[in-house]
Amino acid sequence: VDETYIMVKPDGVQRGLVGEIISRFEKKGFKLTGLKLFQCPQDLAEEHYKDLKGKSFFPKLIEYIVSGPVVCMAWEGVGVVAAARKLIGATNPLQAEPGTIRGDLAVQTGRNVVHGSDSPENGKREIGRLALLASFTLVMDISRLEPLPLFFLVRYL
Ligand code: GTP
Ligand code: MG
Repeated sequence: VDETYIMVKPDGVQRGLVGEIISRFEKKGFKLTGLKLFQCPQDLAEEHYKDLKGKSFFPKLIEYIVSGPVVCMAWEGVGVVAAARKLIGATNPLQAEPGTIRGDLAVQTGRNVVHGSDSPENGKREIGRLALLASFTLVMDISRLEPLPLFFLVRYL
C-alpha cells in the first residue's frame, strides 16, 4: 500500500486548521494510520529538510518548523503520495489553485500550513523516522519500513 507523511506545520496548528486539513484527506478517501501532536526538535527538522540545506531560506525554514507544535500524520491509500501533493497545492500558496489546501488557506511560501512527502521513497523514510519516536504508534506494520540510522534510535527511543 502507498503511504505518505503529512505534517500540519506550526502556523496550521496555531490557526486552528488541523481539523480542516485532516478532513480533506478523509473526504478524499485516504486512511489515517498514525497521528501525533509533536514539538519538533531542531535536529529532526534539519534531517527532515536536509535536501534544502544549501538554500538561503533554510535557517528560517527550520526556525519556522520548530516554532510551535506540529501534527505529524501517516496516511495510506492507492496513489496517496501524488494525490496528497495535489490536495496540498503548489509550494507558493499564491500560485496554488483554489480548492487546494494552500490555495484556500495560505498566502506565504514561508507559512504554507502543511507538508506532504514528495515521493513514495521519502514517504516511507519520513514515516519511518516518526515510527521511531517514543509514543508514536502506527497502525501499520513497522517491519515494512526501511532501516534508519542508529542515531535516531538512540536519540528518540
Ligand atoms: P514541503 O511539503 O514542506 O516539503 O513543501 P514543498 O515540497 O512544496 O516545497 P519544498 O520541499 O521545495 O520546500 C520545503 C518548504 O520550504 C516549503 O514548503 C516552504 O515552507 C519552504 N520554502 C521553499 N522555498 C522557499 C522560499 O523560496 N522562501 C521561503 N521563505 N521558504 C521556502
Ligand atoms: Mg518538499
